[in-house]
Amino acid sequence: MLLDTYGRVATDLRVSLTDRCNLRCTYCMPEEGLRWLAKPELLTDDEIVRLVGIAVSRLGVREVRFTGGEPLLRPGLVGIVERCAALEPRPRLSLTTNGIGLERTAAALREAGLDRVNVSLDTLDPEVFRRMTRRDRHADVLRGLAAARAAGLAPVKVNAVLMPGLNDTEAPDLLSWAVEHGYELRFIEQMPLDAQHGWRREGMITAGDVLASLRTRFSLTPEDEESRGSAPAERWIVDGGPHRVGVIASVTRPFCRACDRTRLTADGQVRTCLFAREESDLRGALRSGADDAEIAGLWKAAMWGKKAGSGLDDPSFLQPDRPMSAIGG
Ligand code: GTP
Ligand code: 5AD
Ligand code: SF4
Repeated sequence: MLLDTYGRVATDLRVSLTDRCNLRCTYCMPEEGLRWLAKPELLTDDEIVRLVGIAVSRLGVREVRFTGGEPLLRPGLVGIVERCAALEPRPRLSLTTNGIGLERTAAALREAGLDRVNVSLDTLDPEVFRRMTRRDRHADVLRGLAAARAAGLAPVKVNAVLMPGLNDTEAPDLLSWAVEHGYELRFIEQMPLDAQHGWRREGMITAGDVLASLRTRFSLTPEDEESRGSAPAERWIVDGGPHRVGVIASVTRPFCRACDRTRLTADGQVRTCLFAREESDLRGALRSGADDAEIAGLWKAAMWGKKAGSGLDDPSFLQPDRPMSAIGG
């Protein structure tokens, strides 16, 4: 079991499959992209499946989410999903994607054993999308979403980050659209994880702002605390139900006390937290011939060092060296 000194147990593993992305969201990375990891630095498909296998068979992990960068850019994704679905005990499998290319792969991913998918979409306006992501791919994302739903990947969740002066007036429209299409919408507070270090607390749209904006059009009733469990999203029932809307308020209402996550970067480093400043190298151990028990031991030791929280409210807070796209969201 992956236990830390605060008594939390990590049962949810997020695996980044690549640090590359085909969008350039302004809250994530600069126009020119980043210096990507070189191929030999990335874990191979076999190494990923082996590490996920150790996590589920020896360390109590029950949920595995594939992330990026953009995980659909990983050539072996469908095969990785298929092999992870064959592990014992079978973990629940999900994917967080920007949706580009999902139209082509949703059915194959479902067939391979993927259970559900979260898709990022910040706006309903193609021009605002182009400004926010610096790419003209709005229609691809909408088609990807429709394909995910048609393939039976349920629930399909949509993640939106609101940015002042860009899409901050769109919350009610996004919710009307999500209700109409049967997607579960969550608003995410912008976090200081961008490569450009441009985040400012004063410039951030808070969970409070989002809720006030939504209440101009909808009645929202909080879901009871128990149904939240360790999920990052707090949820509200929309207009009496059955639809729900979520807010992931990592900055103003942190949920670190209930955190059940462990992370693996695309180059095989364990991170105990999005905001961790240390990493533990599993790739080096794998490549120098460590057996499964040794790797499990290294992973456990890493999690034992997990900090109480993100440290965002500490005056001495420092952004982690890696940006979000290289950590895996
Ligand atoms: P489910 O609730 O299982 O569907 O997934 P999720 O919301 O955890 O995953 P997703 O990849 O869609 O992430 C949504 C947002 O939550 C992203 O901005 C993540 O960075 C953020 N997030 C995920 N895990 C954590 C965490 O442990 N801490 C914080 N602060 N944010 C997280
Ligand atoms: N703050 C909050 N959310 C972010 N995402 C990417 N960068 C940030 C950030 N700095 C979101 C993406 C995606 C999810 C994995 O994280 O939009 O939906
Ligand atoms: Fe790509 Fe996600 Fe970063 Fe946008 S937020 S540039 S989709 S990794």
